[in-house]
Amino acid sequence: MCGIVGYVGNKPVVDILMDGLEQLEYRGYDSSGIAVMCPEDIKVYKAIGKLQNLRDKLRGHEKEFNTSTMGIGHIRWATHGAPTLLNAHPHTCNCGRLVVVHNGIIENYEALRDSLGVENELKSETDSEIIAVLIDRQYKKYKNCEKAIIESVKMLQGTFALAIIFDGEGDKIYATRNVSPIVCCKSEKGSLIASDIIAIGQYSENYFVLPEMTIAKITRDDIEIKDFAGNSVCPEILKLDWDINAGTKGGFPFYMEKEICEQPDVLRKTINSRIKNSLPDLSEDKISDELFENCTDITVIACGTAMHAGLIGKHLIENICEIPVNVYMASEFIYSNPIINKSTLVICVSQSGETIDTLEALKYAQKKGAKSLAIVNVKGSSIAMQSDYVIYTQAGPEIAVASTKAYTTQVAIFYLLTARMAYTKKKLNYEGVTKFIDELAKLPDAVENIIARKEEIHLLAKKLLASEHTFMIGRGFDYPSLLEASLKLKEISYIHSEAFASGELKHGTIALISKGTPVIALMTQRYLAAKQISNIKEVMSRKAEVITFAKKSLVTKDINCDFVLPEIDDDFTAVPSVVALQLLAYYVSSDKGLDVDKPRNLAKVVTVE
Ligand code: F6R
Repeated sequence: MCGIVGYVGNKPVVDILMDGLEQLEYRGYDSSGIAVMCPEDIKVYKAIGKLQNLRDKLRGHEKEFNTSTMGIGHIRWATHGAPTLLNAHPHTCNCGRLVVVHNGIIENYEALRDSLGVENELKSETDSEIIAVLIDRQYKKYKNCEKAIIESVKMLQGTFALAIIFDGEGDKIYATRNVSPIVCCKSEKGSLIASDIIAIGQYSENYFVLPEMTIAKITRDDIEIKDFAGNSVCPEILKLDWDINAGTKGGFPFYMEKEICEQPDVLRKTINSRIKNSLPDLSEDKISDELFENCTDITVIACGTAMHAGLIGKHLIENICEIPVNVYMASEFIYSNPIINKSTLVICVSQSGETIDTLEALKYAQKKGAKSLAIVNVKGSSIAMQSDYVIYTQAGPEIAVASTKAYTTQVAIFYLLTARMAYTKKKLNYEGVTKFIDELAKLPDAVENIIARKEEIHLLAKKLLASEHTFMIGRGFDYPSLLEASLKLKEISYIHSEAFASGELKHGTIALISKGTPVIALMTQRYLAAKQISNIKEVMSRKAEVITFAKKSLVTKDINCDFVLPEIDDDFTAVPSVVALQLLAYYVSSDKGLDVDKPRNLAKVVTVE
């Protein structure tokens, strides 16, 4: 969703802003704009659609801005008002002397508009433009930029990350935020801010998250932060722990393929750093056994793919630790009157750490007294900061909208949590837990085996290219993997796909199976194989086009197996099978000529409810 970038320094600003916005493209957007401090005034350039359109608009204006070294930029994912030039950010006020970019939602914008009596002055339909008007009014009153921003922010309700520049006040960018993220860094080229470190990580490996409800004054050599009472604030400095080249395609046609292929490495990183003397060890994540000893039940809260990781976690924890686990869609959680109390451990799962539904659900659970643990990929993100404990997946930056490596590393963390919890709660003894960890350590190789055979999957993908609908069937532990596979296929190939627990299909949906309907069958669970074979035969007898992915030892003459999954213990099949199905979705989308990394209507970071 929307993204912000800002720079003040000693280099030409436009290239830096455009590069930063390009890095933020993955968040999803439908218009963009920049505001640049030029010698005579602030110049604003905006475009609808792809960033290339903004680049095209800038061409020919170089004389206006080529000496400029300060500015702010924005990509907008439309919420209030269509993607038009007037609605695109930056928004200006006072004849362009005050410029604002905003990420988030201002809930009381209509009330503010009415109380300021400015309905006829506003040029856009957005909830954001009112912020510029409000700050301008306060600026005229107090003649002080900081005071004007602080007094305005006090009147805003909702979520916001703001970057603001004033003409005639020197080379300074002001930034403030509530919930929506802003990270800042300094380098020899100047000072930078952005919605995500990926946009500015190339300038410095040290950065910090701007604390909520503080104000940053950003100049070429310094970033000064104060709370709203005027006290200096010293934020925690974070270190970038991935190679900045990880944010490039590295020779692959799409980020998604690159990220799928990175899974053996990132799984090794996520798992190996948490195994000591053959035991799961979460001490570096500052998670003590007490957290597990005191918990009687677990509630997992997440959205989409991250929620599917939670379903895998439920299967593992309930089976091995024998503790009840509820998995909630974050968007439904606070409206479901969930049963949680002081002995509930709430686990929030999120790649971005910014999904607003998950964040709000976490805050709600905390108010009910639950302890919280976040499984998050992005360091210093809102969910990571809000949670009592955090375990970072070490997936590195995930740029493709469709999540792949973040998902499998989330699942890897659930394996580690299960092992540690089972050991702490004496559900597994030393031999049991070391055997579990040995199996876990085999996962990266199993994934490598699948990636080495990706062209076999590419051939299978051809069978789906002309389909409008597909069904996926599997039993037990395979079912959540299929929910994830089905989501992957729909979101990037636009083929309607539904996953079913195989036994459930005949309770209605089998009516949709007819000659040639593609059905993807997954079979990795020994104790359910006979039943799954009979479910596969049910759809075959209705002339469905079945594509079967089966674990090596379960392949039988009774049914055709199209892709043989590596032999691995039943409790660990969730990772290799999903990787095979990620590849299937990937090849369907790329062979259809679609924009695999940026599917229509989707945003990587979902910061609106
Ligand atoms: C699908 C996908 C989404 C996200 C969901 C939650 O491929 O990526 O379903 O999983 O939007 O996002 P995070 O994990 O950032 O909270």
